[in-house]
Amino acid sequence: MPTVTNIEDLRRIARRRIPRAIFDYADRGSYDEATYRANREDLAALKLRQRVMIDVSERNLASTMLGEPVSMPVAIAPTGLTGLFHADGEILGRRAAHAFGVPFTLSTMSICSIEDVWEATKLPFWFQLYVMRDRGFSRSLVERAIAANCSALVLTLDLQIQGQRHNDIKNGLAVPPKLTLRNALDVMTKPSWALKVLRGRRKTFGNLTEAPGAKEGLATLSHWIAGQFDPSLSWKDVAWIRSIWPGKLILKGVLDIDDARIAADTGADAIVVSNHGGRQLDGAPSSISVLPAIAEAVGDKTEILFDGGVRSGQDVLKALALGARGCMIGKAWLYGLAAGGEAGVTQALQIIRKELDVSMALTGTRDVRDVTPEVLHAARHGDVVRPAGSRLEHA
Ligand code: GLV
Repeated sequence: MPTVTNIEDLRRIARRRIPRAIFDYADRGSYDEATYRANREDLAALKLRQRVMIDVSERNLASTMLGEPVSMPVAIAPTGLTGLFHADGEILGRRAAHAFGVPFTLSTMSICSIEDVWEATKLPFWFQLYVMRDRGFSRSLVERAIAANCSALVLTLDLQIQGQRHNDIKNGLAVPPKLTLRNALDVMTKPSWALKVLRGRRKTFGNLTEAPGAKEGLATLSHWIAGQFDPSLSWKDVAWIRSIWPGKLILKGVLDIDDARIAADTGADAIVVSNHGGRQLDGAPSSISVLPAIAEAVGDKTEILFDGGVRSGQDVLKALALGARGCMIGKAWLYGLAAGGEAGVTQALQIIRKELDVSMALTGTRDVRDVTPEVLHAARHGDVVRPAGSRLEHA
């Protein structure tokens, strides 16, 4: 593997290792990708405050998320199709996250099932749930998560209907992956992927084999989602999930302050300020731009987690400064997985930890739990800290 020093290096390797359709599924956003780009741009626009002559010889990156100890405040986000990025991808991800001391979230749309991951690792993980039209099937997913000792349920609120990702259509993304005339050349140039994934045991959605409509084939993901995901979902369903799930509940996909207030009033243990990595409502604000207002409004009632564009430790520090307790990484960990399996995931986590550690030192921060807006440059100078879109005016 070429020398890897940042997440972008892992991204480049991943692009070479796996078929285009799968890489693009993770790498891209919906429609014109304005929100997808804004996530990165607004994080980059925030400036950190360089401080000198502060003794930073002792630094602490450990914290808690949902009461669980973490070696840094970063969790692996739920990502669909993960076992197609690398054979047994979800199992490898769980192992790497455990060894590193951060939470791992398994997606409803994973390739390895809830049971596969539990049996292979015997490690509790967070399970992400999509509520489907068939409430009986949704209930069975919750029961399976309970049986597998999942320590938190991450209920995704922002995908009742899927935002269109042009590339998935153009690339003919299919699950299980299909070898077609169009993609044959691409797949032939990724022999190690073809050998391990195409000829491997698991190639379809492991949790959904008994799902309604699964027998007819899940092939075109977007069609299956359109048929099975429930556009009538409402806060009543959150109350229902709360009543059947005894553990910690995380509500993911909150981007609006009014929704944040309702979400906090449900008694959820945490919310994730998220626009689904710019993969859903194109034209929505970046996650970082709305984080401060949401944290200010409900941060005393529920834990605030953050995702959307996090590719570095600097990004993590900025999100913590604006009120997040921790971040979730989606694309960043998938690049690591596709580039190097379990070692690649570890490498992605190490890169982010190192960057966070150095950035803390250079901002004069000794403890990750004490990060405040003071680490942001603008906070000192009376400028507007918050990128456009936030409802708060000043630091
Ligand atoms: C599913 O969660 C996706 O974003 O594709």
